[in-house]
Amino acid sequence: MQALAAACDGQTVVLGVGLSVTRALGVTVPGLRDFPQLPDARPTIPATQHALWLWLRGDEPGDLLLRGHELQKLITPDFTLMQAIDSFLHQDSRDLTGYEDGTENPKDAAAIEAAVAQGQGACIDGSSFAAVQQWLHDFPTFDAMTRTEQNHCFGRDRDSNEELDDAPESAHVKRTAQEDFEPEAFVVRRSMPWVAGADAGLVFLAFGKSFDAFEAQLRRMTGHDDGISDGLFRFTRPLTGGYYWCPPLAGNAIDLSALG
Ligand code: HEM
Repeated sequence: MQALAAACDGQTVVLGVGLSVTRALGVTVPGLRDFPQLPDARPTIPATQHALWLWLRGDEPGDLLLRGHELQKLITPDFTLMQAIDSFLHQDSRDLTGYEDGTENPKDAAAIEAAVAQGQGACIDGSSFAAVQQWLHDFPTFDAMTRTEQNHCFGRDRDSNEELDDAPESAHVKRTAQEDFEPEAFVVRRSMPWVAGADAGLVFLAFGKSFDAFEAQLRRMTGHDDGISDGLFRFTRPLTGGYYWCPPLAGNAIDLSALG
């Protein structure tokens, strides 16, 4: 873990630690838990928790692959690569359906307040809790909808990005409106589209000062609060789901002191 942390700078590589690692080390990171099992979720939400999550960031896919190999060498054979997803930014931060993603993200100080732990203890402050899900889009189903139906899945107009007054209660932005939760449920989303051959969708990624805001949104999307499922499920579904704790930075280095 120390060797891995030394190779992660929080910018070009983001490190996320799963609960099984802290358990194996005999330490507790307050707030770190496994991705929830949600038996009452409609539709079903898979939990595919792993020990580590690494987000490699850069412009050139070949460089990213080779950097990934270097990181793997540092942690083999203790950790085995379970999944790698190539993701990218599409146009001006749009989902592959054409809808702009990230509009309602908190900004500047509000983003830090939403996404970075503060006042939770020396080893935890400055860290972040990342929820990651790979979603697979069903493009034939989406393409068969009228533009109005598509807009109603999201609750926004695709071309103007305006919120729709007449959107149904199932509309995604109505399900997830961050100020409508008690307490308010703000997160910083950094989702990116992915393509693998003919399959494609979105890697949903949200950073929070805890997992609570994401989990409240996910529960409302899956009908836990009022029996209404999110309109997005008409054309997309998650394949994976994991929770990872991103340790704080001390200078340019990752501070793993919470792990003992
Ligand atoms: C394939 C999956 C998803 C797609 C394509 C998607 C797309 C979008 C789009 C286009 C918006 C409107 C613009 C914006 O404010 O960003 C939005 C808003 C939002 N989404 Fe998603 N989203 C997905 C999954 C999720 C999930 C799983 C969550 C959390 C559990 C989530 C949480 C949010 C939040 C918090 C907002 C802002 C709501 C507000 O305060 O107005 N999204 N999403």
